[in-house]
Amino acid sequence: MSLYGHPLAALGGALMVAGMLVFIVLLGLDYLSDAENPYRSLVAFIGAPVIGILGLLFFLIAIRVQVSSAKRKGLHVRWRLTIIPSSARYMRNLWLFLGLSGFLVIVFIYAGFRGYEATESVAFCGETCHTVMGPQIETYGDSAHARVPCVECHIGPGTSFWVQSKIDGIRQVLAVAMDTYTRPIHTPVVSLRPAPETCEECHWPEQFYGQKLKTKQYYRTDEANSPWTISLLVNIGGGNPQTGRAEGIHWHMVTDSLVEYIPVDTKRQEIPWFRVTKPDGTVQVYADPDATYPDPEGLETELRVMDCVDCHNRPSHQFEPPAVAVNLALSKGEISGDLPFIRAVGVDLLNAEYATLDEALTKIPLGLRDYYATQYPFRAADLSEDIEQAIEVLMGIYEGNFFPEMNTDYRARENNLSHFVNDGCFRCHGGNQVNEVGEALSLECTTCHSIIAQGASDDLNQLQSDIAGVDFIHPLEIGDVWQTVKCTQCHTRESGY
Ligand code: HEC
Ligand code: HEC
Ligand code: HEC
Ligand code: HEC
Ligand code: HEC
Ligand code: HEC
Repeated sequence: MSLYGHPLAALGGALMVAGMLVFIVLLGLDYLSDAENPYRSLVAFIGAPVIGILGLLFFLIAIRVQVSSAKRKGLHVRWRLTIIPSSARYMRNLWLFLGLSGFLVIVFIYAGFRGYEATESVAFCGETCHTVMGPQIETYGDSAHARVPCVECHIGPGTSFWVQSKIDGIRQVLAVAMDTYTRPIHTPVVSLRPAPETCEECHWPEQFYGQKLKTKQYYRTDEANSPWTISLLVNIGGGNPQTGRAEGIHWHMVTDSLVEYIPVDTKRQEIPWFRVTKPDGTVQVYADPDATYPDPEGLETELRVMDCVDCHNRPSHQFEPPAVAVNLALSKGEISGDLPFIRAVGVDLLNAEYATLDEALTKIPLGLRDYYATQYPFRAADLSEDIEQAIEVLMGIYEGNFFPEMNTDYRARENNLSHFVNDGCFRCHGGNQVNEVGEALSLECTTCHSIIAQGASDDLNQLQSDIAGVDFIHPLEIGDVWQTVKCTQCHTRESGY
């Protein structure tokens, strides 16, 4: 009996060869190419092997058919891999095998390239993955990293994360195809490569950042949209090349100290337990006496090692809260501060629940025109130019930061780089967790920044200022509450933060 005694064996063999070749070609393409393309991976890692395995199956069936028919005829079954030019049937099947292999390879590679071209095209991305990834792509375009390719942060160099991302990519494509993906997509990205291997390729820890002056303008929710300004000198720190000392906020990353923590929610917003190990080996544990959390020594417990992304979790996908966005638009003069209550009304319109982007873009203009027509009927004509301008700006803010189809906006995407809108730093520095002698981390505002100017104006000349720092004054008289209560207790999502 011989290998090609049956045409099915020829077909099977051809499929096997073609599947293998396509796999190798696509694998090479995929590895060499910069652009991520999960669809190509789908063909390479699932399509090609399936074809190959199908071929193997045909091949085995063909052998089985031949063996049993030979046995029925009482023939002796013996394996022979030589070519039998004397057997016409054998030669016919051998040629069939070679011909089919060649034909299938050409067909698959052609189909692969056409498919590849199609998936690379903008239209394809626009239609298939843009709704899913839209929020991230849109915000990425407005970020400091708009020119850093996605793969630099999400995959990084080397093969192991590349393979992991392939497996992830295939799962994601299937989820999109079957419409089983979550809205919003899950975050944090648990499989994100550790920051030292991505961020630190470009921002190395010894780099010195010093102090950074941040001037923020706020507007109250009164009729006059009264301004308030705060200038902060943020002690970003780092390794100071002149003194060699590790300073400020970035001591977390320049010293060899290790900070580990246990998050109890999936978004890592609640941290009842953390531990710092200093380079000299001293260990300090901080825990919230009122919280329940898994045993830190337990084998099942995963201790998260703090890295860049625990503070910079939105380096390229920042969803601005409406209060922040409207304050900014007012400070730039894009929205006129002459419009009564525009800070309050604008935020409420952005904050309202809309099912789709279209609904929001219909209701925001109607809502604003309606507000001034009913509240300021005598001034509506005077204000109309400012109103129309404000509508344009509000719609722009909505489109850039709210994605109702994906349930994605600031409410689903906490930003950990502050403590004003989300608890951020105060997840650990908020005073809830204490060490064995009952001390919490310092709550002193100046640990992280000093306020060098503040006051009820958007003109820097009108502010109370001192380069040595001034004590914080809350824009609205609330006594000392801000010293003991987290900002987020009052600055809630309902108020646009
Ligand atoms: C500067 C680094 C960086 C770049 C560039 C970058 N990302 Fe991200 N991305 C992140 C980080 C960090 C997270 C969130 C990590 C976390 O919280 O676990 C994230 C999260 C995501 C998520 C999960 C949803 C979410 O909002 O948390 C998606 C989807 C995503 N990125 C897609 C992209 C796409 C698409 C691109 C390119 C257009 C891109 N990213 C470019 C760093 C980056
Ligand atoms: C491929 C290089 C590259 C990688 C990787 C990268 N960055 Fe950047 N980053 C840049 C560049 C370029 C800028 C812009 C610098 C500028 O505008 O001065 C920047 C700016 C920043 C800024 C300051 C901009 C701002 O918003 O105030 C922060 C913070 C930052 N990156 C954090 C990160 C973090 C965290 C990661 C890892 C998740 C990361 N970067 C990964 C290149 C990179
Ligand atoms: C403990 C929290 C924390 C950690 C951890 C952290 N950062 Fe930062 N980083 C900050 C804060 C706060 C700022 C200042 C905020 C701003 O610029 O708006 C900042 C600013 C920066 C800037 C901008 C500097 C500038 O001059 O504008 C870069 C770049 C940066 N960080 C990179 C990193 C990288 C890379 C890592 C990881 C190795 C890291 N950071 C870890 C909190 C942190
Ligand atoms: C996971 C918990 C955790 C988070 C979140 C966190 N820190 Fe820290 N931070 C620590 C620990 C632990 C120390 C070390 C305290 C010590 O020296 O014993 C520390 C120390 C510091 C120090 C140095 C204090 C000093 O006395 O020298 C600064 C500054 C700082 N953090 C700023 C920040 C800022 C800003 C953020 C938010 C962007 C932040 N941290 C978020 C845990 C955290
Ligand atoms: C653990 C470090 C830390 C401590 C302690 C801290 N802050 Fe902050 N604060 C930050 C960081 C980081 C930011 C964000 C700075 C930026 O945007 O660059 C911030 C931002 C702010 C802002 C600007 C808010 C905004 O984004 O519009 C104000 C106001 C402020 N802090 C007040 C205070 C006051 C008052 C205290 C003392 C009760 C305090 N902070 C304590 C780290 C800290
Ligand atoms: C007890 C509740 C409460 C606490 C705690 C609180 N605030 Fe406020 N805050 C308010 C109220 C109420 C307003 C007035 C809002 C308005 O004008 O509509 C306000 C207004 C502000 C404004 C200016 C207006 C704007 O655009 O939102 C800033 C800035 C501000 N607070 C900062 C802080 C910071 C920083 C902290 C934490 C250190 C803090 N607040 C803690 C209640 C609080």
